[in-house]
Amino acid sequence: MKSSTSLATALTPAHLRFLESLFPGEGLVTDPTQMAVYGADSSRRSAMPWAVVRPRTEEQVVELLTWAESERVPLVPRARGTGMSGGAVPAFGGVVVSSLWLNCVLDIDADDFCAEVEPGVVTAEFQALTQKQKLFYPPDPASLKISTLGGNVATCAGGMRAVKYGVTRDYVLGVRAVLPGGRIVNAGGRSHKNVVGLDLARLFVGSCGTLGIFTKLTLKLLPLPEGSATVLAAFPTLADALSGARGVFRAGILPTAMEFMDAKACWAVGQIKDVPWPKETQAVLVLKVDGSNASLAAELARLEVALAPAHPLCLFKGLGAQEEEPLWELRRLVSPAGFRLGPDKLGEDVAVPRGSTVQAVEGFQAMGAEQGVQVACYGHLGDGNIHVNIFYDASDADQRSRAQACKETVFRLTLSLGGTISGEHGTGITKGPYVSWQLGEEERALMAGIKNVFDPSGILNPGKGWS
Ligand code: LAC
Ligand code: ZN
Repeated sequence: MKSSTSLATALTPAHLRFLESLFPGEGLVTDPTQMAVYGADSSRRSAMPWAVVRPRTEEQVVELLTWAESERVPLVPRARGTGMSGGAVPAFGGVVVSSLWLNCVLDIDADDFCAEVEPGVVTAEFQALTQKQKLFYPPDPASLKISTLGGNVATCAGGMRAVKYGVTRDYVLGVRAVLPGGRIVNAGGRSHKNVVGLDLARLFVGSCGTLGIFTKLTLKLLPLPEGSATVLAAFPTLADALSGARGVFRAGILPTAMEFMDAKACWAVGQIKDVPWPKETQAVLVLKVDGSNASLAAELARLEVALAPAHPLCLFKGLGAQEEEPLWELRRLVSPAGFRLGPDKLGEDVAVPRGSTVQAVEGFQAMGAEQGVQVACYGHLGDGNIHVNIFYDASDADQRSRAQACKETVFRLTLSLGGTISGEHGTGITKGPYVSWQLGEEERALMAGIKNVFDPSGILNPGKGWS
């Protein structure tokens, strides 16, 4: 055991021999071309791992963490790398630990309304399995077709259905994880209610691989709603759209999803797709409701009535997946279409108290105009969670600094409204430097203390977190 607490700065030949014996064959990756894939994520940041390991068993994870603690070798857990803030990028060095080969669905139980899975199971594939038993796992991050449940838990992934059903945190009943030194922790379990002790399972949620490496997750399931319906409405002003959204809540409707797109987001989508809204559109709302098939037509009518006082320019309805899909495609296209506004993007995911969304979005748009960069706002209006995408040309130093200035004023306005600099993407490396703008010294010290209990040598995903 090393006496110093400083971390290793590279792998020695002895380290590599150890990894080769623990991860035979393709379990260990050292070829730089292959490793590069494991060093990047959707933040478009990257760093070269020292090595990549792909455990197939919990025993391997235990041995790895025992060794890494003893040798002070940093480990960076990851799955598909769909995170947007660089949380899985080994920016400060280390061995990347992929959970993709720990990918068994162990149990889906229609009586307990829970499932046990390994962390590398792909979210959409899991959802399809639950649906076969008329069960429902609601969290639906945009990446769900490729992202994994382990990654979703590590980042507390959100999604469009969060307004009604909550985020990943609300569906984690239990976590089995391996800590540095090879300690195994079983937190929570299959009971839907449990108040014995501190909620360690939830502590792992959103911890971004800084506390332990998951080997099993116990997830809560709901009965599957029979069907769903969607409304897309376009408005002449942003304020009208937001007042329409308020009207929906005031009518006593809790939609499954309540998304919005501002004028620039609508314009960008219109550049790559025929859009159904008129030219004068300044904002679009897309709303989904779910329930029994017998009730859905009535729910659609209620939505239309609730939106009417906000004077939509047009309103389209879809009953059932086939009719709804083209309406949702327009919302999903915002992300790729955004690049029509500029070749590079700072993609933010601030959240503000719901009542402040108009002030926030109008403020963000004004900041873009002031800095001379294109700002498109869209996202999870029902949660006050706004994607503020700042487009610019990174090859131009002046634009780079104006985009950066815009991002910082977006954060300042968000915080002045009582909001948070990240509603769903986490603080990774792109937002790490701003955490102290939001969290006080006392809170950060408590978090550092908790981290120290789980990971006293600081080997897990170093440089990420809350300092
Ligand atoms: C979305 C991702 C960017 O909502 O969070 O599309
Ligand atoms: Zn989002």
